[in-house]
Amino acid sequence: MQAIILLGPPGAGKGTVAEALEKTSGYIHVSTGDMLREAVKEGLPVGLEARSYMEKGELVPDDVIIGIVKERLARGPDDARYMFDGFPRTINQARLLDEVLESGGGRVSHVFLLEVPREVLVDRLSGRRICRNCGAVYHIRNIPPKVPGKCDICGGELYQRPDDRPETVLNRLEVFEKETASLVDYYDRKGLVRRIDAAHDREGTVAEITKYLMAGGSE
Ligand code: AP5
Repeated sequence: MQAIILLGPPGAGKGTVAEALEKTSGYIHVSTGDMLREAVKEGLPVGLEARSYMEKGELVPDDVIIGIVKERLARGPDDARYMFDGFPRTINQARLLDEVLESGGGRVSHVFLLEVPREVLVDRLSGRRICRNCGAVYHIRNIPPKVPGKCDICGGELYQRPDDRPETVLNRLEVFEKETASLVDYYDRKGLVRRIDAAHDREGTVAEITKYLMAGGSE
């Protein structure tokens, strides 16, 4: 089992990049945010526990996250290559991931740090719209659907995530700085961090990450 990590603040484009890379790279996209939103939608106990944290923009407790990630990885396949988006977010989660991968002879090969100025993040989050049916991600100006309010892929209705409201967005950005930014040091010490300027078009970001993956780097 091998893994790459997309690390970056809310709105950096982790999900957007992952969606594009999954089609071309063979890495399986695992987003803890998507898994939690699915659990909330289905009314699962994990979702009920996570919901209040998510609505406030706080991190969901490590034991909940570690539980859902372990369950996902256990479903395999054993030789899978995973692309994590929004995980890990704490040192505890990062250590757990290392343990799980190492127990199967695998490891994290790259951590892509998506760097975007704060004002761009706020604009991206406030304009984000998501398909209620298939989860495709749009932006009302930057990456608009062909028909306003409708998904290009499945025609589903587009909605705004409750945690994309302005007051929650600012808290999420603070939580990232307070709780997740320290992961950059954790992975820098292992020589795994690749800094990507992700403030521009999505294609450029995807191309730069692909270049590292093709080169193999530390893989
Ligand atoms: P999660 O769903 O992971 O949210 P996040 O990390 O805050 O990241 P986002 O999904 O908001 O942003 P993104 O970087 O994926 O950006 P996107 O591609 O959508 O987590 C939600 C919550 O769940 C957390 O707050 C927490 O409560 C909980 N949680 C999840 N994982 C957890 C964990 N491991 N531990 C604890 N709690 C956890 O892009 C944003 C917008 O910009 C879109 O509209 C897109 O169209 C647009 N855009 C993207 N790229 C570009 C570009 N290059 N140019 C122009 N526009 C662009």
